Amino acid sequence: MHIKQQIDELEGQAYSELAAAGTFAQLEEWRIRYLGKKSRLTEILRGLAALSIEERKEAGAVSNALKLKLEAAIKQKEESRREIELLSSASRDAIDISLPGRPFVRGRLHPVAQAMNEISDIFTAMGFQVMDGPEVEWDYYNFDMLNMPKEHPARAATDTFWLDAPPNDKGWRMLLRTHTSPMQVRTMEHTKPPIRIVVPGIVHRYEATDATHLSMFSQVEGLAVDEGISMADLKGTLHEFARRFFGPDRRVRFRCDFFPYVEPGAEMAVECAVCRGDGCRLCGGNGWIEVLGSGMVHPSVLEGVGIDSKKYSGFAFGMGIERIPLLKYGVEDIRLFYGSDLRFLRQF
Ligand code: PHE
Repeated sequence: MHIKQQIDELEGQAYSELAAAGTFAQLEEWRIRYLGKKSRLTEILRGLAALSIEERKEAGAVSNALKLKLEAAIKQKEESRREIELLSSASRDAIDISLPGRPFVRGRLHPVAQAMNEISDIFTAMGFQVMDGPEVEWDYYNFDMLNMPKEHPARAATDTFWLDAPPNDKGWRMLLRTHTSPMQVRTMEHTKPPIRIVVPGIVHRYEATDATHLSMFSQVEGLAVDEGISMADLKGTLHEFARRFFGPDRRVRFRCDFFPYVEPGAEMAVECAVCRGDGCRLCGGNGWIEVLGSGMVHPSVLEGVGIDSKKYSGFAFGMGIERIPLLKYGVEDIRLFYGSDLRFLRQF
């Protein structure tokens, strides 16, 4: 057979086998068969020796051209094979984004705890230290040292949960604290001024529960004692607190109030979030909502803990916490906060 014919035949065969080779292994076999050292092409070329110079020249050129063509063909085939491989592995290993995720149950802070933290943070930023005190308290701290001795009418005004326990050797009786103010006394008793503290905590009052009253609720107490503290410091500090907590455009109002352990005493009210002072259902029609009691620490309270009231003065305040999310979100019944109904609590 003429050598050119053999090469043509080989070419046809090579292409049809290449088309049939599907795997990388088959491609490799094909390469050895058609381009390797012992390939059919090499064999054919070996036969060139028997040919004339003219024929050899021609056959050499043809076979070289074929070699180049076959190399290009397998290169292309390998590339497309690799591409297919890549695509199929991508689809095989892909994440099924239509599969519903597993729900991740996250805990959250109770709205009252959130408010307490936020309030503590604001006062911390103003240089106050956060303190903690006992919920089971002596009447000595809850009343006596706050200018409410045994027969004082204010003692009876707050209905107290007394513990069924005998008094101690000093005649102190145990109760559930009716406010966080006993921590004023406890702190001043063992700390020299300057003092700046806030005390978040739970308090109890022997009261019927209704939409706006709870027998257990939370307060944040504040106390600042130093040389030269005045009513202006009280107003400035509490006004700044209100601006940071309720927003800079909310007005506040101070009015006289009475607490036996401060002189003078004041209540602070914040403009109602809903009606801005006009009066609506949330604020009970008067436009302002009382958020805290406050005043200048009474000289006899200072003297009681051994602080010289000629040298030092201070202000104190106590605010109820449950009211605050009530005001912020317009919740109508305060009892919802302690109903443990997650459908309600999860909204905050
Ligand atoms: N203890 C008061 C209350 O329970 C609030 C208060 C604290 C008032 C400190 C004056 C000074 O309402």
